[in-house]
Amino acid sequence: MCGIVAYKGHKNCHPILLSGLKRLEYRGYDSAGIACINSNDKLVVTKRKGKVSELKSALSNSEIYNLGIAHTRWATHGKPNQLNAHPHLDQSKKIALVHNGIIENYDPIKKFLLSKKIKFKSETDTEVLVQLIGYFYNNGKMNFEQSVRAALQRVDGAFGIVILNTDYPDMMIAARKGSPLVLGIKENEFFIASDISPIVKYTKDIIYLKDSEMAVINKKSFKIKSVDKDISLPKNIEKIDFKIDDYDKGKYKYFMHKEIHEQINTIPNTINGRIKNESVLLQGLSDYWNIIESAEKIYITACGTSWHAGLIGKNFIERFANIPVHVEYASEFRYNHALIDSKTIVIAISQSGETADTLAAIRKANNHGALTIGICNIAGSSVSRETKCGVYTRCGHEVGVASTKAFTSQIVVLYLLALKLAESRKTISKESLKRHLDYKKSVNKIKSIFKQENDIKKIAKKYKKANDFLYLGRGLNFPVALEGALKLKEISYIHAEGYPAAEMKHGPIALIDKDMPSVFIAPKDKTYEKIISNIQEIKSRKGKIIVITDSKNDKVLKELANDLIVVPKTNHYAFAIFASIVLQLLAYHIALDKNLNVDQPRNLAKSVSVE
Ligand code: G6P
Repeated sequence: MCGIVAYKGHKNCHPILLSGLKRLEYRGYDSAGIACINSNDKLVVTKRKGKVSELKSALSNSEIYNLGIAHTRWATHGKPNQLNAHPHLDQSKKIALVHNGIIENYDPIKKFLLSKKIKFKSETDTEVLVQLIGYFYNNGKMNFEQSVRAALQRVDGAFGIVILNTDYPDMMIAARKGSPLVLGIKENEFFIASDISPIVKYTKDIIYLKDSEMAVINKKSFKIKSVDKDISLPKNIEKIDFKIDDYDKGKYKYFMHKEIHEQINTIPNTINGRIKNESVLLQGLSDYWNIIESAEKIYITACGTSWHAGLIGKNFIERFANIPVHVEYASEFRYNHALIDSKTIVIAISQSGETADTLAAIRKANNHGALTIGICNIAGSSVSRETKCGVYTRCGHEVGVASTKAFTSQIVVLYLLALKLAESRKTISKESLKRHLDYKKSVNKIKSIFKQENDIKKIAKKYKKANDFLYLGRGLNFPVALEGALKLKEISYIHAEGYPAAEMKHGPIALIDKDMPSVFIAPKDKTYEKIISNIQEIKSRKGKIIVITDSKNDKVLKELANDLIVVPKTNHYAFAIFASIVLQLLAYHIALDKNLNVDQPRNLAKSVSVE
């Protein structure tokens, strides 16, 4: 978690660091800070609680700095306040450090440092690390680089760090283990960040630091070295060719709203070029297709919204390609006794491509010899680099913390993958495949969902005061219900649970009373009659009923539902997407009505890069 950006060059670093932090705010936004070395070789540190905008207003523009490190925080150890904000300094105030990750053995190290009369200012694990570096530097007859190495060799846990030392005003050291760091190189300029987004507008020459590597930047040159030994390592400079979209909300008040509307274009964009001659083309998988098509078992692993997409993917792959699929939270998969071997395919789904648990799951799968596939939105991200092959969701930068357009694009990729598997394994007829690939036309009907946004707004107003919601669906629409409930929780802080509609009788029904709304995702499919019974069960307990269906002029539903949203009739699979968009809009308007910050809800971050 947290975002790091650092600069060394001839330009004024404040604008570079601030615009970088703004791009990285998706990683955390509870406090932010900058440390620069001035022309008198002194550290100038500014920190603020809250968003990057608070830091920006607090910075003084009276001096120009050419060397600086910056950080936006998502608190792990210690409250989100100014004192705990990064950068942290050692006792001598010569060394400043920004850190992503968690130092797990901070407690014994802190006790050791306290015994050496070192005083701490914050409650963070990060301060322990910088004080340890300072301890070695000031007492151990070590130079800057040696003291960093000595400290890092003694810490357990994950780190991505950048460090300055006023005795070395031309030097910047970065190191990583577990937390991603990228070095951007331009003539006599160096950029470091926790992902490429703050860097790409300045340079295309990038080095992705590997675990246990350090970048030692000195004057106009740099070395890649090992954290474990004082040895130089090869410089693997990659040329990247990514465009980063501008941060622009356009006519929308919030990115989330813009991103919900963008689905009119992002879904076709995910499909474009991937259906040809009534066949599915997934170029990113072609080198490994013979292994993929003969898979005996598939695991899908992910976190949050991406995990919900995984549940939908399971339904597609089992239904079309007859391959058993297990879907596991990455945080569980990494520690479970997963039965994976070289005949297993592990699909990791991640919007950001940086989620720590998902990365750990990929590493575990790679170590067991499984073929790993990434379904990811960010080109060049850790997931895209650490999986053997993959498919990009291509839905553009997603800024709102609550994932929307990435979810529907993940569903589309999984649908295409399932159909491609079915085609290769001959578990689908040509006619049926053709019908399913007509999906694109159904998806084009998305526009008409937005015509009902005013009705959804009215429903939001009506229920915004509810304390709890139940979301119910069956089959493919059970994960849609889970995702609908998650969206509401994330941005409106209303407790919501998703359940398979029939399971509701086994517990949640006890909660139903006149104040508790239940949202049913009820298309006119083979489970329709059963869902009607479930609706009746709630109705007879005075529960309020909101229904999303594709059944037009449905007298039964009109009679039963307090509120009804009818989306266009399409194929069964596109309905899951349509219903998801309605649920995104419902959550958005409820949160908006409650005057909440929809894009940056409390306690959350867009990319969870700690365990
Ligand atoms: C965080 C975000 C969620 C996201 C999850 C997984 O919790 O707030 O919106 O679904 O991480 O993120 P990923 O980038 O791996 O899809």
